[in-house]
Amino acid sequence: MTLRYRKILLGVTGSIAAYKACELVRLLVQDGAEVQVVMSPAAEQFVGAMTFEALSRKPVRTALFDREVEMAMSHIELARWADAVVIAPASANCLARLAMGLADDLLTTLCLATRAPVVIAPAMNTAMWENPATQAHVHALVERGVQVVSPAVGEQACGETGPGRLPDPEYLRAVIEDLGTDRALQGIHAIVTAGPTREPIDPARFISNFSTGRMGCALADALLERGARVTLIHGPIDIPPSSDADCVAVTTAAEMLEETLKRSEDCQLLVANAAVADWRPCAPTDRKTKKAQEVRTLELEPTPDILATLGQQASRPYLVGFAAETEDLEENARAKLRAKNVDLMVANRIGPNHGFGDAETTLEVVDADSVTRLGPDSKNTLARQLVDHITARLSPASSVVDFLHAARRTTHSG
Ligand SMILES: Cc1cc2nc3c(=O)[nH]c(=O)nc-3n(C[C@H](O)[C@H](O)[C@H](O)COP(=O)(O)O)c2cc1C
Repeated sequence: MTLRYRKILLGVTGSIAAYKACELVRLLVQDGAEVQVVMSPAAEQFVGAMTFEALSRKPVRTALFDREVEMAMSHIELARWADAVVIAPASANCLARLAMGLADDLLTTLCLATRAPVVIAPAMNTAMWENPATQAHVHALVERGVQVVSPAVGEQACGETGPGRLPDPEYLRAVIEDLGTDRALQGIHAIVTAGPTREPIDPARFISNFSTGRMGCALADALLERGARVTLIHGPIDIPPSSDADCVAVTTAAEMLEETLKRSEDCQLLVANAAVADWRPCAPTDRKTKKAQEVRTLELEPTPDILATLGQQASRPYLVGFAAETEDLEENARAKLRAKNVDLMVANRIGPNHGFGDAETTLEVVDADSVTRLGPDSKNTLARQLVDHITARLSPASSVVDFLHAARRTTHSG
């Protein structure tokens, strides 16, 4: 599982345990999450906003009525932005206001406005925690689907011993990591190919393309989040791939095919996102071609087609291909789907000024008789949506894992 790219809205309220939230931010950021801290005015009595800003690398939000930040990202946009809202520590006062559905400061308003899962980790004096009022508020929140992390038992800052301590940041990090996770692909081995390939002309030059590998890495992350074991076979890319994936670095199309075939035997899902070069020089040279030689023609031959090769195998994984197209996306994608005998084709539009490397994009997911449009959105969000789409298509009703293991395809299901 990974926290990479997860958008966590962390609420910090007026508890003596607020200092532990600093370590929590550090752990979440270290794991690749984006953390937006929202402090109650009382929380600022305990820890300075600047500490959180340094750790999260984002300005802390405190006020509901702030014209400047409302113009940039309103409280409603912030509520939509979050993949999860976590309040740690949550004061008794905060629990009461949430239970009542009050919206009289930024944090409580966000909690009402968000559709993301909400987790609260209460921290307070034992008597405050055991007070029937607090317990009634906690029960009301649990009834409404809020996840409440039970406070730890032990010696408290006030000198009392009992329940009320904020659990360790490491424990809270693990709770957040598991949040709302649908592990539908547990037990599945998925191969993702990503990035460009390079086809050498001579030791100094190559043919390649503009692919960055960002979408492939996002897909690997999304599959890991769903519980799959992921092998990421990638060409030369600059972004660091997830450390939770089994990464295999290759350079050429031939190497990518070889590494994919080697591993495809025990794989149930192949997502071929790499922008594999279509052609390669027929006769790459061992010596650098001199400029003075005036080479005007480069003889090219087609590279091996990874998807088509796998599509022809008698027993093959569920195949998802990608097609970068400049026009007629759906038609071109469907033609490729048939020609290569794959299950799903994902088309994205490229053009002179957009496509590879864009932060946001749209996808058209094409099968034999339907098309689904996703986006425009960030590649991370689209990757999650696409993995959900694949998961749903694999098995609308039954267990995905059983289905996949039973149905290593012997014929085109098209
Ligand atoms: C030194 C000190 C420590 C406090 N610690 C806690 C605490 O751990 N938990 C809690 O619920 N309230 C605690 N309080 C009380 C809250 O700060 C107070 O109820 C405040 O109104 C909470 O506001 P908020 O929920 O908007 O952050 C403490 C107050 C003081 C002065």
